Amino acid sequence: MDIAVSMLKKGLTGEIIIPADKSISHRAVMFSSLAKGKSVINNFLYAADCRSTASLFKNLGVDIEFINENTIKVNSKGTLSPYLPPLDCGNSGTTMRLVSGILAGQQFNSTLIGDESLSKRPMKRVIIPLSMMGAKIESNEGKAPLKIHGTPLHSIEYNSPIASAQVKSSILLAGLFADGVTTVIEPYKSRNHTEIMLEYMGADIFVEGNKVSIQKSELAARDIFVAGDISSAAFFIVAALIVPNSDIIIRNVGLNKTRTGIIDVVKRMGGKLEILDERIVSGEKIGDLRVRYSDLKSCNINGADIPRLIDELPVIALLATQADGETRITDAGDLRNKEADRISAVVNEFRKLGIDIDELPDGFIINGKQKIAGGSDVDVYHDHRLAMTLYIAGLISQKEILVKEFQWVNISMPEFLTLMDSLKSL
Ligand code: S3P
Repeated sequence: MDIAVSMLKKGLTGEIIIPADKSISHRAVMFSSLAKGKSVINNFLYAADCRSTASLFKNLGVDIEFINENTIKVNSKGTLSPYLPPLDCGNSGTTMRLVSGILAGQQFNSTLIGDESLSKRPMKRVIIPLSMMGAKIESNEGKAPLKIHGTPLHSIEYNSPIASAQVKSSILLAGLFADGVTTVIEPYKSRNHTEIMLEYMGADIFVEGNKVSIQKSELAARDIFVAGDISSAAFFIVAALIVPNSDIIIRNVGLNKTRTGIIDVVKRMGGKLEILDERIVSGEKIGDLRVRYSDLKSCNINGADIPRLIDELPVIALLATQADGETRITDAGDLRNKEADRISAVVNEFRKLGIDIDELPDGFIINGKQKIAGGSDVDVYHDHRLAMTLYIAGLISQKEILVKEFQWVNISMPEFLTLMDSLKSL
């Protein structure tokens, strides 16, 4: 589905409830499947990635029933059953990497496969530490398919070379089945939804700064309410900041501080963003945001900022085009390993729209404030976040743009167009 987007003349107004967090939805299904008993997952993200996780655990013998799209009943024996055909992770790196950790310590063998994009993504980052724990994993030169031969595991202390929640979580989940205390130390703190939810479900887990330790534990089934996804809210935050006359409210946004890098950056840029009401759901902080069109100034984004806003960087690069001065985004080389190479994809597609952007090995340099010419077709590289970033660029482009294959949005936010239209209509 190609979609034409043209300049929005009158500003975004009104309020939306942001759909559920993708990372938390995956974990809710995975961890409830490992816990003996019944749990209800409320506000589950009914998008392609999280549905891949739900089908995968159904195949592993867990009783998973959708009461409606956003409410799931999980009834688990607390153990998984062997499944001989390949288990399909679809487009989802989180599914493949976290499930590898879970399956490595089972008493049966399994195979994980993914779509074209996932089959190109690096899996050595989990194969290496899991193998140190005794796991037996065969791969296609470090990529999917992964053949996992279930085997007894032992604990390790792992100094991760990258700040990656997927790597950390994969090791911690293997640690749930391993003898001894498994520890992961990260260079910077990555998102900590795994730690929060495992603790909420009674795991023996201990956190000290960037170091997390876990011991073999049985999880207790508990109902979970999934917070809204700040990574999805990011597209509406940026749209409101750059489309003149905008003033919107975004409700139920997850405000876990390992994810709020975008809020800090918006504040550093002088953006008008207020947090209206903070509360805790299932161990996670959420709140409502008011965002208004703003005069912005450039800032540098690097180091410990990066894991706290990694998925927002394409749309933050767009935001930087509307900020006065030079914005340098560095230390973000891992963006090249996402659903697409998000550094070269952003640079190629932004240039098609007439944006002046420089490519760095680990980021971008953007000089603002720029007028965006538009008037061209752009490609999304099978990447949901590029699709939404380019759509937002269209809202401030001088000439209409055509975002090709916009259906990739369904990976994380099938509701995107409906929500956007509701903010355009007032
Ligand atoms: C995720 C972690 C991040 C993020 C991804 C989801 C997770 O990846 O980019 O979209 O749910 O743990 P890395 O941890 O590999 O950076």
